[in-house]
Amino acid sequence: MKNVKYIELKNQWDYEEDDSEANGQLSFSAKIVLIQLILLVFFILFVLFFQGTLNLRKSVKSENTRLPEWNKSSSIKRVSRFQDNYFTKYESRYLNCTEFINGNQGAIDSYVISGKLRLHKDKLLGLQMDCDSIKNRLFGDLPPFKHLKRSIAFVRNIYQLYELQEAFLSMIYHPSHFYCYAIDLKSDERLKKSMRVLSNCLDNIIVLDKEYDFDRSGHKQDEAHFDCSKRILEKNWSHAITLQNFDLIIKTPEQLSDLSELLNETSIMGSDHALTDRYDTNADWTPVGMMLFKNESEVPDEILHKKLVVRKSLNEVVLSKVFVLSMFEKLNLNMVIKRFDNESLFGVDEMMVMTLYENYLGLDGQVEVDFTDSREDELTRFTDWQFNQPDGPNAECKSHWLRHSICVLGVEYLQEISKSPMVIANKVLETFDFGTVICTREMMNDNKTGRSPDADWLSKRFPQFRGMRVKVNS
Ligand SMILES: *[C@@H]1O[C@H](CO)[C@@H](O)[C@H](O)[C@H]1NC(C)=O
Ligand SMILES: *[C@@H]1O[C@H](CO)[C@@H](O)[C@H](O)[C@H]1NC(C)=O
Ligand SMILES: *[C@@H]1O[C@H](CO)[C@@H](O)[C@H](O)[C@H]1NC(C)=O
Ligand SMILES: *[C@@H]1O[C@H](CO)[C@@H](O)[C@H](O)[C@H]1NC(C)=O
Ligand SMILES: *[C@@H]1O[C@H](CO)[C@@H](O)[C@H](O)[C@H]1NC(C)=O
Ligand SMILES: *[C@@H]1O[C@H](CO)[C@@H](O)[C@H](O)[C@H]1NC(C)=O
Ligand SMILES: *[C@@H]1O[C@H](CO)[C@@H](O)[C@H](O)[C@H]1NC(C)=O
Repeated sequence: MKNVKYIELKNQWDYEEDDSEANGQLSFSAKIVLIQLILLVFFILFVLFFQGTLNLRKSVKSENTRLPEWNKSSSIKRVSRFQDNYFTKYESRYLNCTEFINGNQGAIDSYVISGKLRLHKDKLLGLQMDCDSIKNRLFGDLPPFKHLKRSIAFVRNIYQLYELQEAFLSMIYHPSHFYCYAIDLKSDERLKKSMRVLSNCLDNIIVLDKEYDFDRSGHKQDEAHFDCSKRILEKNWSHAITLQNFDLIIKTPEQLSDLSELLNETSIMGSDHALTDRYDTNADWTPVGMMLFKNESEVPDEILHKKLVVRKSLNEVVLSKVFVLSMFEKLNLNMVIKRFDNESLFGVDEMMVMTLYENYLGLDGQVEVDFTDSREDELTRFTDWQFNQPDGPNAECKSHWLRHSICVLGVEYLQEISKSPMVIANKVLETFDFGTVICTREMMNDNKTGRSPDADWLSKRFPQFRGMRVKVNS
């Protein structure tokens, strides 16, 4: 059943559906062409006379010429603000990103008390899914894209609501970056179908045909990330960032490109000792015992027979292209993926990449440095942890809500996010507070994101960064 809200909106935007093929119909009949020509002339005159007072939208692509707020003239919904794609003006009346980012508690309280912006899958506005509409939502309100020095591959495993993924993409979309998605097979048809429609509109967006049985224990996460990486391996990116469904990128596409240039061949991840109940401690962990290398004859004995120390960090990592290429070229990745993806264990998706990177295997992009200490990754993921407490209301969280020991990021965190050096924040929930997503996008467009780290900052925190600099300069 369509609820009241949906009907209201449908009426309001009915014109879009009537005219969804407006451009294509031109050739059907000379009469229509004539009428449209007259309208066009009329329209041009109108624009010339009233240009100053019209709210001109920024052009998306050359074919999408600058059109004013002209209700019947285009299939593209004309919204004045990004949030209008997903919420009514009434729902977003208390959203004031500038004030939230500045930490104005009064503004935050008004918004929170009014119920926040939340998306539920049975209460959505409905989106036009033709390519023009999609592109318009993604970047129609943004300035023209700047040239990037390096390209990033965003590799994301998803399972829930299309709107959240579209909004995430709208923050980091750039024609030079690459986006690969792996979908949970238990997701609903709406997500699956919408993602595939989206990927058909833009060349640099890929959705894997294969679907995965993700679960809370992290099963199939590594496999999906590596399948995606493999799929886009030939593309010209310099770093891949692995992501999960609720990860919010908090740096702009330009900042990430600059970071990739600074990192050069270094990968970024934390290093910790793995918990012994999360992997099979009795298995043979020597590369030879694991049949890790495709061709053992070129691997030194001291590598082949040295037991790997199983390492742990987070699912989110920043991987250099040379390292990823080298893993695919030299290792039997399928076997090591299976080794970690043990059905009877929990938290299996935070060990494999670290173990392969932090044990020296002679791969490209690796350096022989000391990873035996526990080091937190201070660059990849911002998280407000509250351990050993139940999910739900939580006084320690600024947003007062906890999920899996992590505070859900409401708009209360925006000021902190805007000062953070991190690349990703975890986690936002669209059902809890979509305002965080909308305001982080605004933060990016207003150049109010946290500063990107410089080489000194990275050197202090990441032994692999120091090691790589020594290697390159020697
Ligand atoms: C477009 O619609 C708005 C309200 O929906 C109305 O105020 C405005 O006059 C319309 N513009 C044109 C050009 O029809
Ligand atoms: C946000 O709040 C400031 C200060 O109260 C106000 O000037 C501004 O117009 C508000 N912006 C929005 C979008 O409501
Ligand atoms: C690939 O990207 C690098 C920058 O990261 C650039 O220097 C190079 O020219 C690109 N190669 C191709 C074939 O586009
Ligand atoms: C990046 O890495 C390559 C390969 O190791 C090296 O030749 C180059 O000098 C490095 N660039 C910088 C700026 O360190
Ligand atoms: C999974 O881990 C358990 C416990 O460590 C171990 O007994 C079992 O052999 C492992 N299964 C596989 C398929 O490796
Ligand atoms: C394995 O590596 C050795 C030494 O580099 C090479 O001679 C041999 O042809 C390789 N074997 C295969 C199957 O690629
Ligand atoms: C963004 O702000 C920083 C300083 O905070 C400045 O160095 C940079 O040039 C600004 N970028 C843009 C695109 O305005």
